[in-house]
Amino acid sequence: MEAAFSYIYEYEKSPSSLIPLLQKTQEKFGYLPREALQKISAHLGVPLSRVYGVATFYAQFRFEPLGKYVIKICHGTACHVNGAVNISQAIKEEFGIEEGQTTEDGLVTLERVACLGCCSLAPVIMINEKVYGKLTPDKVRKLMKKLKKGELDD
Ligand code: FES
Repeated sequence: MEAAFSYIYEYEKSPSSLIPLLQKTQEKFGYLPREALQKISAHLGVPLSRVYGVATFYAQFRFEPLGKYVIKICHGTACHVNGAVNISQAIKEEFGIEEGQTTEDGLVTLERVACLGCCSLAPVIMINEKVYGKLTPDKVRKLMKKLKKGELDD
């Protein structure tokens, strides 16, 4: 694992390297592992609490790995007026998590997004790279059951 963090030492030992380093870390791992943050803190001479303070300030950073399936739930205007709240509710109930969270088994991450750019299909969600539109709570529940059974890609 040590080698995985060697990029940190290529950055100048200065507090101004903090944000670029956080970005690089997230790009590399998909999230900010605690071990990386500790090494960044030591390398830059910036207290760990400050590293966390900066990282939590920006919504782009996450502290846990993404799930195998990332479900983006659209809450843009078109989706909102077509019942996005009910779609979101059905999905949250199915997995017992809120938007912004990942299930403990690492299967699913729920994300709230503003517009997925296919408003004519509202309400819309995206599962990884695939768009699902004209949803109803019922349709979405069926879709989530398929996902759980690993039958989504057929
Ligand atoms: S508002 Fe949902 S896709 Fe545009």
